[in-house]
Amino acid sequence: MKILKKINDVRSEIKMAKAEGKIIGFVPTMGYLHQGHISLIRKAKEECEYVVVSIFVNPTQFGPKEDFNRYPRNLERDIKILKDEKVNLLFAPETEEMYKEGFKSWVYVEELSEILEGKFRPGHFKGVCTVVLKLFNIVQPDKAYFGWKDAQQLIIIKKMVEDLNIPVEIIGCPTIRESDGLACSSRNVYLGEKEREKALCLYKALKKIEELIKKEKIYDCKVLIKEGEKIIKEEGVELQYLEIVKIDNLKKLEKIEKDAIILGAIKIGDVRLIDNLIISEF
Ligand code: PAF
Repeated sequence: MKILKKINDVRSEIKMAKAEGKIIGFVPTMGYLHQGHISLIRKAKEECEYVVVSIFVNPTQFGPKEDFNRYPRNLERDIKILKDEKVNLLFAPETEEMYKEGFKSWVYVEELSEILEGKFRPGHFKGVCTVVLKLFNIVQPDKAYFGWKDAQQLIIIKKMVEDLNIPVEIIGCPTIRESDGLACSSRNVYLGEKEREKALCLYKALKKIEELIKKEKIYDCKVLIKEGEKIIKEEGVELQYLEIVKIDNLKKLEKIEKDAIILGAIKIGDVRLIDNLIISEF
């Protein structure tokens, strides 16, 4: 596996791979890799002849009071995982390589960036879209892989790609969960044993809502959300939002319809976790 830190070096490698007619698959990450990332890499390996992974903890997507400084990092451990997965190229730039002095250009997807996560993390998606577009311009992938765990991020990136005619296919991959259902996230390492147990309440709330839809045929979103909220409140956990929206445009639903998604965010101490469940059929 090639490990590169400079944009120009990545461009040269990609040029050679493209000249050989290889399909380029790309998995952008912030490192501290877990089973969720590995599933994206494996999907990319299945579908592409040349797989690039980036590791870059992007400062512009963190708010001033968020966890940028303490975000878990372990490049050595990540490199071992990527080598085992037979990734072709790791791009691991320094901040100065991605954001030169005087950086002034931003990408912003209106409306979709202001709701749900955007309400609690103003500016977050502007940072995400900007760095993802930069990474696309550097790696020039044919296909890029993102997890449904960050559903709003995936939907916003799809919109950016469509609106700006970016020549890449965005592939959404299923959320990977630990054996008890907790969604894999690099931030799970922040959780102590007790907090880890409490954190499960969001998944339990999502599953309860799914059960009420599928078994009890309850389709009124207000009623469903109330039931979900109950589970989270009983656990004494701070609920930031729990909403049922249409999957393609994130518009709030009053009644369950096909392709709905239930999205939630909780805070345990200063650890913020998100999760979601897609209701394709009911
Ligand atoms: O999902 C993430 O890890 C990040 O938001 C991403 C897409 C790598 C951009 O920094």
